[in-house]
Amino acid sequence: MKLFIDSAKIEEIKEAEKLGVLDGITTNPSLIKKAAVGKGKIDMEKYIISIFNAVGKKIPVSLEVVASDFNEMVREGKVLHKKFRKHGNVYVKIPVNPCLEDKCSTASDGIRAIKLLSSKGIKINCTLIFTPEQALLAAKAGANIVSPFAGREDDYIREMSRIKFEKEDYYPSRGKKKLGKILSDDGIVSGIDLVAEIKMIFRKQGIKAEVLAASIRNKRQFREAALAGADIATVPFSVIKTLLEHNKTSEGMRKFVKDIVPEYKSMLNKGRKGK
Ligand code: G3P
Repeated sequence: MKLFIDSAKIEEIKEAEKLGVLDGITTNPSLIKKAAVGKGKIDMEKYIISIFNAVGKKIPVSLEVVASDFNEMVREGKVLHKKFRKHGNVYVKIPVNPCLEDKCSTASDGIRAIKLLSSKGIKINCTLIFTPEQALLAAKAGANIVSPFAGREDDYIREMSRIKFEKEDYYPSRGKKKLGKILSDDGIVSGIDLVAEIKMIFRKQGIKAEVLAASIRNKRQFREAALAGADIATVPFSVIKTLLEHNKTSEGMRKFVKDIVPEYKSMLNKGRKGK
């Protein structure tokens, strides 16, 4: 599974890049807003170029359109592609359905925009996916990546059942029971179940699009995304930092450091400059 960082903050991206195993970056309008806060009036084009410059040229960077109708989504997608392709590997993020309410007359505009932009050779990450059906249509239209929002799917299942929770709280991938019944959103029992079902459908249907587990809230969910077969997980920096932590790892380190015998250390130091 590839590891992407879900952030538009340069410091976080640079810090994550130091790990040496970062495969990509995803942004969205809310992440851009978070990154811009407190910076006064920023030159957005320059800022985004600095995101590309923080990583290698081949690293995929997803940038989202903000329009909610076909013509504008297509125009913005082309602008993003044209402006930044010389700086790196641009993926244009298109919402699967741009309606601001449950129903509207432009529900298919996202899929139509994906079809047109991908036919021009622009790489697409289709975002805001909450059903396997949405993922299937996005892939049929030519999306290279589909992004189910695992954490927000868990939120939705809890909200519908009036379960209180904090954003980082773990939600079991196999779902939760209430009054003897397993809670679900039209048969989907958790965000990770959504990822797993999409993966299963893509496998059975021979679909090549990559499945990117988004809206990852904790390290156990990251692990479960890998178990579900996600091709990519995009992870906020706060969660990336926890991926290497374990009490017993640091306890073990303390003991090893305490137990070093001088002969072992001097053997390792032999031949070092100045020794
Ligand atoms: O990758 C999508 C992400 O930015 C949304 O995350 O935690 O706001 O649901 P979250």
